[in-house]
Amino acid sequence: MEIIHVSAECYPVAKAGGLGDVVGALPKYQNHAGHIAKVVMTMYKTKFLLNHEWAVVHKGYTNLGHWWFTYTIIKEATNVLGFDLYLVDINGLLDREKIYGYEDDAERFTAFQICVVDWISAWEHHPDVIHVHDYHAGLIPFMLKHCFRYQHLKNIPTVLTIHNAQYQGWMGWEKSNLLPAYDEWKRGMLDWKNNINPLASGIKCAWKVTTVSHSYMDELRVAANGLEALFEYEKGKCSGILNGIDNAVWDPSTDTYIENHFSVDDADAGKLKSKKLLCETFDLDITKPLIVFIGRLVGEKGADLLPQAIADSYFHIGRTMNFLILGSGFPEVESALEGMKVLAQKDYNAYIGYNESLSHLMYAGADFILMPSRVEPCGLNQMYAMRYGTVPMVRNTGGLRDTVIDYGDEGGYGIRFNYVSVGDITQAVWRAVELYKDEEKLKEIRKTMMQLDFSWEASVKQYVALYESL
Ligand code: ADP
Ligand code: GLC
Repeated sequence: MEIIHVSAECYPVAKAGGLGDVVGALPKYQNHAGHIAKVVMTMYKTKFLLNHEWAVVHKGYTNLGHWWFTYTIIKEATNVLGFDLYLVDINGLLDREKIYGYEDDAERFTAFQICVVDWISAWEHHPDVIHVHDYHAGLIPFMLKHCFRYQHLKNIPTVLTIHNAQYQGWMGWEKSNLLPAYDEWKRGMLDWKNNINPLASGIKCAWKVTTVSHSYMDELRVAANGLEALFEYEKGKCSGILNGIDNAVWDPSTDTYIENHFSVDDADAGKLKSKKLLCETFDLDITKPLIVFIGRLVGEKGADLLPQAIADSYFHIGRTMNFLILGSGFPEVESALEGMKVLAQKDYNAYIGYNESLSHLMYAGADFILMPSRVEPCGLNQMYAMRYGTVPMVRNTGGLRDTVIDYGDEGGYGIRFNYVSVGDITQAVWRAVELYKDEEKLKEIRKTMMQLDFSWEASVKQYVALYESL
């Protein structure tokens, strides 16, 4: 089966979060399973672009409204990723450094999608399925179905995977002229609450819709940033498929980002070496449990509660634990976390920014990872952490609920709490501190977690079954 993934991120080419990890791994494992999976993404000026060889495979001429432009499709020449990777280059629009956050993002991602469909329409054959990810590729199912110039592609099945329904790509109707001419009777297929909503359009027009965990799919029918009714209406074609993790990249016995490798049998000693390195680097007390947070410092992740929850933990439990934060996001959260450094007593530090290699060291050296997410469609951090023997402390939501069982329950290994509140986080911290004192229990939990199977194989089977049903 030939599967074309369309995405704005793909690790290690460009990654802002879990979307990049998933699109960098799923196609590789689909290829391992005997399929031909390819990725098409937007081009950015990243290190990966500069350090690899590229072959031009297509040059096209198309339009974004009144603006006619030439685009180029380049392909990574050595197949270093384990799948064919194609980048869409549009001079001035897609050759920029950041992935998101420009004023003309609507134009950038609409032009990207037009180029993808335009390019595929020039092929001599049709792929078996076009699999689009998040709103950045959400208009493609509409284009294939309702834009006049792509009618010859309308029988290609489309699947939309929603990694995060908070971001929908809304744009005003004045931008409708950016799209290739379409059947005006089908305006409703673009619209949600009087805006063009690319994610809503994808949900309406894709043949099947998936999200990255079962629980998140259920939650979307009651909380989906305004799309609840649409999820309820379209539930017949929606399903949840849990993400996997790339065990080749995330393996404590081979991870190229860490010096002290370990596996299940020598996890305690191996983790301690990484913890030592972290404690030396960040001036922390190695005798105390190390609780880390890694992620985007935004409301969805509950990051705004961290400063108060840390202060309350010190106050109610005592300064018996370390906290180390890695992340970037809302400036006010960044500065609150940065500001707390002055009060640290060898038990708190924060690295504000994005740092891939530090994140690996933290998964390896931490004792606990805190994820007080308000919304977590899947969450990869907890799965990486568990593979590295680090106990997840998670809010009972979305993919966190589907992957972490509380250690108080039968067969459990993590710490779960119900509310995104300072009180619940503080109580989870107290439970972590208590668990840390029970060395035997912690050892047993580490062992259990490190042997859990979150590999991609199971999810690949479910995706393939879904494609086959189309
Ligand atoms: P999301 O995609 O919502 O941000 P996920 O848990 O799915 O959340 O994936 C987050 C990914 O991004 C993980 O690979 C995590 O290690 C990584 N990550 C997030 N923030 C940072 C950071 N500041 N530095 C390094 N890696 C980060
Ligand atoms: C999104 C979600 C995250 C998920 C990731 C990969 O960024 O916020 O929970 O793990 O996509 O699917």
